[in-house]
Amino acid sequence: MKVESSFDQLGILQIPPSATLAINEKSKQLISEGRQIVQFGFGQSPFPVPHKMVKALQQNAHRKEYLPVQGLPRLRESIARYYNQEYNLNFKADDIMVGPGSKELIFLIQKAVKTGLLLPSPSWVSYAPQAQICDKPVGWIPTFEEDRWVLTADSLENACKANPQNKLLIVNYPSNPTGGSLGEGWAPQLAEIARRYGLLVISDEIYCPLQFDTIADSLARWYPEGTIVTGGLSKWCGAGGWRLGVAAFPKSLNELLPAVKGLASETFTSVSAPIQFAAIESYNFPDEIKQYLNDSRIILKAVASFVHQKLTSCGITMPTASGGFYLFPNFSSFKQNLSDMGITSSIQLCNLILDETGVALLPGSDFGRPSNELTARLAFVDFDGKYALRWLSSHRDETNWQEEFIKKCCPRIIVGVEKLTRWLSNCSS
Ligand SMILES: Cc1ncc(COP(=O)(O)O)c(C=O)c1O
Repeated sequence: MKVESSFDQLGILQIPPSATLAINEKSKQLISEGRQIVQFGFGQSPFPVPHKMVKALQQNAHRKEYLPVQGLPRLRESIARYYNQEYNLNFKADDIMVGPGSKELIFLIQKAVKTGLLLPSPSWVSYAPQAQICDKPVGWIPTFEEDRWVLTADSLENACKANPQNKLLIVNYPSNPTGGSLGEGWAPQLAEIARRYGLLVISDEIYCPLQFDTIADSLARWYPEGTIVTGGLSKWCGAGGWRLGVAAFPKSLNELLPAVKGLASETFTSVSAPIQFAAIESYNFPDEIKQYLNDSRIILKAVASFVHQKLTSCGITMPTASGGFYLFPNFSSFKQNLSDMGITSSIQLCNLILDETGVALLPGSDFGRPSNELTARLAFVDFDGKYALRWLSSHRDETNWQEEFIKKCCPRIIVGVEKLTRWLSNCSS
């Protein structure tokens, strides 16, 4: 007999789990069935947390007190110094807030302002669902593969005109999902438009320390009065599970930081004390951590370039990555063959690739692309980062070490790329 539920009137929110987690669950399920899966779906750092930080965490394990909502003053000082020295910005400890991941801080900033959101397409999976939770309209801004999927001044201006009520813009460079960064001279142009339309910008710079070559330009340098910079330990220190995120607020927005602090005080209270004490070590940025970061960038650049070269030479199109963990392959040149196989959306494409090859990718539609565009996000992090760092330290002086490196340190990347190219050549034959 069916028991009548007395909970029907709760009005439970319909929020599905994030797309990234869903593909991870499906991959795990296939692994448990004995399938070999290449994990190009989940964007987690392959590198270990630097030894110095692990030691600092051990030494601070006894800390048991609640810390200030905004974060430990000593940590905020080291974060401000790090941003100013490394990125030529101009923050004080009082402008900095730490939270349990930058995801939570971005959510609280969205919650703290009533205005709607402007979001380049493609964008990271969580910004739009967060806006939905906050009852915010989202104005998607088109970007184009020819522009490396990076937001242009013209597109931003058109979006500002079309969505005059949406005054919050989130940008993220190097980008998750495309790996693209602002080209030279782009930040000042975007800044000029943001200033003219009175936008509040969240510049999500969580992958900036992993920019491969030149230092990434920041909108905060060109539009300091209206830009909040977010980041944290998750990507450049391999410490996603430590849950420490950072937001740096401009002085001119002096009502916003207290509002976000108010929301934090009524929700998470403060970041775990041992984590905050240990994080001081990373933001003090000693030579050991500089070396670790530099080597991480060198390795990621080599892997990105290998995957890009192999996939583009078989007909997939995509821009090269400037930093971070991701590439954004476009399978549109196989559109006719795929359509003949009944594949007309990125979700169908990724499901079929996972079923037939065991390679996990995320569909472009999860990042705000049209569902019938055959794009996907590829996270090139399925390798042992600890082994890769060790290998690099003893081979860095050899010429053309990259080829040997990929063979020795990235066997699963090779397998994933070969499976994809073989599958595509079968599709087109
Ligand atoms: C673009 C981007 N922003 C923010 C985050 C959130 O990171 P965290 O909450 O770990 O600081 C992620 C994590 O995947 C991300 O890829």
